[in-house]
Amino acid sequence: MKKILVTGGAGYIGSHTCKALSKAGMEPIVFDNLVLGHQWAVKWGGLEVGDLLDRDRIVDVAKKVRPEGVIHFAGHSCVGESVSDPAKYWRNNVAGTINLLDALVYINSPPVVFSSSCTVYGITDVDLISENVAVEPINPYGETKRAVEIMLKDYEVAADLRHIVLRYFNAAGSDADAEIGELHNPETHLIPLAIASAAGDMKALKIFGTDYSTADGTCVRDYIHVTDLADAHVRALNYLLDGGDSNLFNLGAGVGYSVREVVDAVGRIVGSPVPTEPSVRRPGDPTRLVADTGHAREILHWEPVNSDLDNIVATAWRWYQMRKQVLSRPGLGADKLDVS
Ligand code: UFG
Repeated sequence: MKKILVTGGAGYIGSHTCKALSKAGMEPIVFDNLVLGHQWAVKWGGLEVGDLLDRDRIVDVAKKVRPEGVIHFAGHSCVGESVSDPAKYWRNNVAGTINLLDALVYINSPPVVFSSSCTVYGITDVDLISENVAVEPINPYGETKRAVEIMLKDYEVAADLRHIVLRYFNAAGSDADAEIGELHNPETHLIPLAIASAAGDMKALKIFGTDYSTADGTCVRDYIHVTDLADAHVRALNYLLDGGDSNLFNLGAGVGYSVREVVDAVGRIVGSPVPTEPSVRRPGDPTRLVADTGHAREILHWEPVNSDLDNIVATAWRWYQMRKQVLSRPGLGADKLDVS
């Protein structure tokens, strides 16, 4: 069985990808410091607890595991926090990745799939964003993703490190079996917050900006089901394992929904309307971000088959209802979690 090292594999997208790797007959081995990730989400292979800032530890794990491929999720991903604490982002996302890539060079450069983000595009007025659109991040988080994309190219020249960069749009939804799901602390994402509001567990959802130049005045985003993202990672990895060249793909559903459209879908699926309150714009929010997904469809033969908005919301809602039950099982390491 092919061993795949998954940094950040205890996190939201990482854990869904480990499940997909396992279904595809591979053995995911998670490397995670469990700061943002959850021990209970590591279910499909081994766990090596460690921090990428501990260079000796990642070198030891790389030499012990000798993976045939690597998927690199570990990092921080909150735009606002990256503005107030840029050092945290440069240190963890960039310095941590240098340690990882150095460790991989010691074991003959297995291919790497890297989680990047549509944030690298910054503010653009393009209707559908293709991979050719200029990269101009407007916050430190996006800058660190761009830095790693460049670093990967340099390591390829110096050490034959083939890689695929995946730029995600808005990851959302949860595993259809509700074995794992989205759980951030604090939660900042639209769909889980709207669900919490509709369920009566939170006060009114703030709508950040109602005066954008969109049909209903709210921001438009491209929501991509986490299961489709996981599938794209497996395809990207197989492409590299089959000898494919380095490449770069946008991953979105290719369809835009406004904040109000998402809120309406949540109200319909939860069965009670989401209480909302108009609020000021959130700094750094582009008006519209929607992917042109043609490149991933053509090269990876990937289709976002689970990303219908109702399915995204329905799986997120099911996980929201199930998660207390899932996490209360003994031995899951979830005892300290704040699950409201
Ligand atoms: N929103 C609200 N109210 C909320 C939360 C969000 O109106 O309480 C709005 C946001 O302003 C935005 C949309 O809902 O227009 C989606 O917001 P999310 O916070 O769910 O997602 P983002 O688009 O901000 O962030 C996502 C990823 C980031 C990534 C970013 C790229 O989570 O990691 O896309 O733009 F950097």
